[in-house]
Amino acid sequence: MSGKRILLVIGGGIAAYKSLELIRELARRGIASRCIVTKGGQEFVTPLSVSALSGEKVFTELFDLDDEADMGHIQLSRSADLVVVCPATADLMAKAANGLANDLASTTLLATDKPVLMVPAMNVRMWEHAATQRNVETLRNDGVTVMDPDEGAMACGEFGPGRLPEPLEIAGRIEALLSDGPVLYGLDPKPLAGRHALVTAGPTREPLDPVRFLSNHSSGKQGYAIAGALAKAGARVTLVSGPVALQVPDGVDHVPVETAREMLDACQDALPSDVFISVAAVADWRPSRAAAKKMKLKEGGGDPHPTLELSENPDILATLSRKKKNRPDLVIGFAAETHDVDALAIAKLKRKRCDWIVSNDVSGDVMGGEMNEVALVTREGIEVRWPRMTKQDVATRLVARITEEFGDEADKIAAQ
Ligand code: C5P
Repeated sequence: MSGKRILLVIGGGIAAYKSLELIRELARRGIASRCIVTKGGQEFVTPLSVSALSGEKVFTELFDLDDEADMGHIQLSRSADLVVVCPATADLMAKAANGLANDLASTTLLATDKPVLMVPAMNVRMWEHAATQRNVETLRNDGVTVMDPDEGAMACGEFGPGRLPEPLEIAGRIEALLSDGPVLYGLDPKPLAGRHALVTAGPTREPLDPVRFLSNHSSGKQGYAIAGALAKAGARVTLVSGPVALQVPDGVDHVPVETAREMLDACQDALPSDVFISVAAVADWRPSRAAAKKMKLKEGGGDPHPTLELSENPDILATLSRKKKNRPDLVIGFAAETHDVDALAIAKLKRKRCDWIVSNDVSGDVMGGEMNEVALVTREGIEVRWPRMTKQDVATRLVARITEEFGDEADKIAAQ
């Protein structure tokens, strides 16, 4: 990352002190920070401490003759590879969403031609207020990356979303944004136009009786992000999904299922497809018999020691990988493990006969969380390890790699 630089706008909030930690973390990664501290920000951190950590002059005023002679606000706004607002207060976001420019920070945000990352931190009510949510949506539609705040206890004594994410996580996001991310969208023709992608996502539910089931903690976030990224890249996407609380991404055909066997049938029905990405956390077992009526406690006439007999579910990934007819050209599995992650991923690729495995260590907060840290394993071995990033960013990178693969295929055919 050496040689990269950000322009860091430090807003006025109690979380401003964490921006000092961020500057240090970025410096460790070879990323330089030039800083603007707003008037509010100066109530929490002094320009002197920011300057001591960043090793650079700190900017505070819009109309400062010395600064303007040295580096005008327009030049300042373009002097970095990325503009980061941290903490992004409700006020700063409202100004940026509406194009106000009445101080150095807001003027810089309006004048910049560089990508912008905002890291919000504020009281939970302020974050949840319709006006703030409207502003966040406007900013995102304008192409600004707005991180979701963390949830937890706040300095003001309340609890909920609004805390600044940890500096390590912010630094990872900045690094991902600076690392020449793949260009996938806005291309004409779209790179996956004419391709059909089949994706499974979420958990499955295996019924015990009409009201109970066996399942797992899968949220579906990674699979849904991949389906959305494939659609944006122009593919026709079929998303076969277990029950999750997510919105189906634009342009994606959604096939809702409950059990593993239903998921397999829906996948078979959706073939042929060019690529199959098996992200679902399919239950490995199901109760051998699902009771037709609700099982009762002993007092209600039920068995005092009910035992659960399990049967193995079909392996959807292995079934589609091993198909003789209609096998998708590229079959990608996921491997979530808590130990020996690399070795198990390589073994899984061979056992299931898939082409790639995306492996991740789920011993931390991956399941249900926003972030993921994965390695891409191909038949040749571990191809690449991506740093910790959002599931959206993992999806973009994976789809970019798929696009590349199909591009190479097309080149080979054209050369024949
Ligand atoms: O063997 P394991 O469950 O760890 O394999 C994980 C991969 O296999 C994931 O891609 C998952 O979606 C897929 N899988 C499947 N059907 C199963 C079990 C796992 O498609 N019954």
